[in-house]
Amino acid sequence: MAVPPQAAARAAFLRAEIERHNYLYYVLDAPEIPDAEYDRLFRELQDLEAGHLGLQRPDSPTARVGGAPVAAFATVQHAVPMLSLGNAFDDADVRNFDRRVRELGGVDEVDYAVEPKFDGLAVSLTYARGQLVQGATRGDGSSGEDVTANLRTVRAVPLSITGPALPEVLEVRGEVLMLRRDFERLNQDQAARGDKPFANPRNAAAGSLRQLDPRITASRKLSFFCYGVGRAEGGAVPADRHGAQMAWLALLRFPVSGERDVVRGADGLLDYYRRIGARRAQLPFDIDGVVYKVDRLDLQARLGYVSRAPRFALAHKYPPEEELTEVLDIQVQVGRTGALTPVARLKPVFVGGVTVTNATLHNEDEVHRKDVRVGDTVVVRRAGDVIPEVVSVVTARRPGGAVPFTLPAQCPVCGSAVVRPEGEAVSRCSAGLYCAAQRKQALLHFASRRAMDIEGLGERLVDQLVDAHLVRSPADLYRLDPATLAALDRMGDKSAANLHQAIHHSRRTTLARFLFALGIRNVGEATARDLAAHFGSLEAVLDADEQAFQAVPDVGPVVARSLAQFLGEAHNREVIQALVASGVHWEEHAGRAAAAPLPLAGTSFVLTGMLPTLSREQAKARIEALGGKVAGSVSARTRYVVAGAEPGSKYEKAVVLGLRILDETALLELLAQAGEGQR
Ligand code: IVH
Repeated sequence: MAVPPQAAARAAFLRAEIERHNYLYYVLDAPEIPDAEYDRLFRELQDLEAGHLGLQRPDSPTARVGGAPVAAFATVQHAVPMLSLGNAFDDADVRNFDRRVRELGGVDEVDYAVEPKFDGLAVSLTYARGQLVQGATRGDGSSGEDVTANLRTVRAVPLSITGPALPEVLEVRGEVLMLRRDFERLNQDQAARGDKPFANPRNAAAGSLRQLDPRITASRKLSFFCYGVGRAEGGAVPADRHGAQMAWLALLRFPVSGERDVVRGADGLLDYYRRIGARRAQLPFDIDGVVYKVDRLDLQARLGYVSRAPRFALAHKYPPEEELTEVLDIQVQVGRTGALTPVARLKPVFVGGVTVTNATLHNEDEVHRKDVRVGDTVVVRRAGDVIPEVVSVVTARRPGGAVPFTLPAQCPVCGSAVVRPEGEAVSRCSAGLYCAAQRKQALLHFASRRAMDIEGLGERLVDQLVDAHLVRSPADLYRLDPATLAALDRMGDKSAANLHQAIHHSRRTTLARFLFALGIRNVGEATARDLAAHFGSLEAVLDADEQAFQAVPDVGPVVARSLAQFLGEAHNREVIQALVASGVHWEEHAGRAAAAPLPLAGTSFVLTGMLPTLSREQAKARIEALGGKVAGSVSARTRYVVAGAEPGSKYEKAVVLGLRILDETALLELLAQAGEGQR
């Protein structure tokens, strides 16, 4: 059948466009568009080619796996090609996959090994007689770049492995990535040096691994997770199941994801997808989906491969965390501390699972560095944290006449001068609490759930209370009577009475909440709790100086200075006295000496498995009573892992990380010792 000329032209355009983006992404590590946009182009071409058989060509980007390696690294031929994965975007795709696996495999029910789809870059590590001899990038799938020297600098990559009946040659595959916190830090350093920040952790990982100078790679914190065996010659590798191979790799001290699991059937897959999806934002690294693999290796072999990907595996994608949209306006907000924040008003776009209409531009320098202008098409990212941000501008799509942004010299709320202290990135309104914006934000923070928790005191009411000069400081809230409240706009007698009650009830609080509610710069909830635990009373906090604040665990010089500055202002002390005078109160900590932090303060525990006598709650309560923290997952910050019967993947991870592992007896001893030290 003849191919319509428009379809042929569109396909040719798409091929060239996708090839260009492949080059930008795979060769230059400088993508111009988000993955979601790329995926759309790719899918459009796939659909076109599927609809018109005459359009299929062996040189189409749909028939191959990536781009060519850059010339400067030596080229490595992969003994076994590093393939790509087919994608699923919805439940139906997953059910179809499972049905096909069952049909082609001739089985009724299938177990799948499931794991996160790490958003980094694929590498292969080859070990000969237990020594790391080669590390390579995936490249185009059949050959990649020799980055052995660079991979050697990645701490999570074992330089040698030992174990019984180790294969002569073992090739392990996995993903190099950068943890979100390392990425944030790297970008802060980049900015401090005046270097260009990386758009996202994946680009940072790729840029760091593909450095010609391994010392630069070494200075970047890269992480690695492995997800399979590429090749094994000789020795005894578990040959029955993928899950068993992963457990074996974990025992050889390869980092494997603690999130991996084995599930049954399509329902098991979809349940896993939702489970990980719900925790996606809390994971320490970016993932763009989950990967399903038929667990039985004989079944994998029976299923085999199609051109681009194995039939036994599938990537199930989450909604993209980056999208393109348009900047409608750039407005300037005034925050609680007077900081002026430029905010991009965006054409609504669905990204990271929500519709985003605003994105912070952080500060003046940031806007200039990215050169964001009204009318620009920008890449918006919403990942991990909830605040969406503008990553970069697609300058190729900038409309004519777009003008660079300038921060106003006057506060947009009160008209006072805007100041920017030397060496600081943030410009502030100089008016302090005289500026209505700052007063309003301070009140909203004071009333917020985690602070004084005054239900019903929202933005609309705070606006009215401040604009009508009824409330200047938080202490004024406690002087409001129901009649005054009832006179406010859209406020009935009933809601006025409720709000009055809520304000009244908020008087009874905790010292930690009270300290947090004051809105002291750099004093978040955790710091407020630390301060309350350390000092025990408001009087002790008010008596402390900068040095005394620094003696609090986890309080550094910046926080100590903020505290001293805040409490050094007479009007802040007045507000505190007024609050106490209006009946705000809490139970004092039962006579703890001010300078004695709890013996296990700052010590992090992880519990796994069933303990012989203590329930999980009991163990947690006893650790916390001595100031310890019980975390949900094992990390480098974990000090002790308490393991009982049938421990989970946390145990394996603890072994891999070489952490101290305690049984119940050892835990009880440790608690007894710590408790004695306290007396
Ligand atoms: S398995 C034959 N497992 O996704 C299957 N890949 O689209 C080989 N990736 O190049 C891949 N996390 O870079 C596998 N848990 C995981 C993965 C994973 C991320 C990447 C890998 C690969 C790409 C395939």
